[in-house]
Amino acid sequence: MKHFINLKDIPAKDLRKIITDAKKRKSLRKKLSTLEIDKGAPLNGKMLIQMFEKASSRTRISFYLAIKQLGGGTLTLRSNELHLGQGGESIADTAKILSTYGDGFMMRTDSDKKIEDFKKYLSVPIINGLSPSSHPTQVLSDIFTVEEIMKKPISKLNICWIGDSNNVLDSLIAASVKFSFKLSVACPKKFEPGKDVRVWVKKNNKKIYIYNNAKKAVSGADVIFSDKVISLNDKVNKKKKIQAFKNFKIDKKLMSFAKKDCIFLHCLPRGDEVSNDVFLGKKSHVWQQALNRVHVQKSILLYCFGKLR
Ligand code: CP
Ligand code: NVA
Repeated sequence: MKHFINLKDIPAKDLRKIITDAKKRKSLRKKLSTLEIDKGAPLNGKMLIQMFEKASSRTRISFYLAIKQLGGGTLTLRSNELHLGQGGESIADTAKILSTYGDGFMMRTDSDKKIEDFKKYLSVPIINGLSPSSHPTQVLSDIFTVEEIMKKPISKLNICWIGDSNNVLDSLIAASVKFSFKLSVACPKKFEPGKDVRVWVKKNNKKIYIYNNAKKAVSGADVIFSDKVISLNDKVNKKKKIQAFKNFKIDKKLMSFAKKDCIFLHCLPRGDEVSNDVFLGKKSHVWQQALNRVHVQKSILLYCFGKLR
């Protein structure tokens, strides 16, 4: 049984296989409409249970479409609707029940430990739909989007992240090791990536380039990624943190220091970290990026259900 919790723990060859499958599937369904099922309905009869402890627009809708297009179905729950969320049932019993009714479980939570606990008691695969340390489905899909737009393997590109050191960046750092690409990060000193992830990179004989100056980080970049400065449930002094990032705003001037054909990507939702003209401008591919979540998550589901060929 394959789980999809953290890119760090998934073999690079499996991640590449998922991307290759997504590419094939996306091109094969060009003429199909949103809810039409892929040829062969590979997940016919399968049910994915999704549970959200935090808000989500893209992840919940894209997983709904992903499993539907493979011939299966989904049920979406808010944890406070369950006995678990009310404190009236254990993770162990909830996990057994989820495994009885469903064939896979996708979860968004504020606790990495909760995902590990569920994994222990589930007898079906678990997918991390965002946790404090990881947003793996987002980032794998973003690798797909970069290669689709740039028409090159990501290992040949300079990738730059401007923004907070959060779950999305941690997954991007993991991806930089798995897919061997150069990653430059720009953020204030106080918000640099944490020790654990940096030690992990070093252990894997890789390097990430960290700058406290946005202009230096974007120099030579093919792709600029960003995310909100204040993540969901971020327990910080918001005013102070936003102030600390004031020199890291992505505007046209900053983009001009990157390569001429540099693209802009953002997982959404957005805050003030990017100007409107960049976000809605020609170099931005954020809507295509959001759509690709469907295609890549289909191949992630196939991987988890043991059906990836
Ligand atoms: N990018 C992303 O995961 O969006 P949602 O929070 O809307 O799911
Ligand atoms: N870093 C953001 C990502 C949202 C998709 C958060 O955790 O809220």
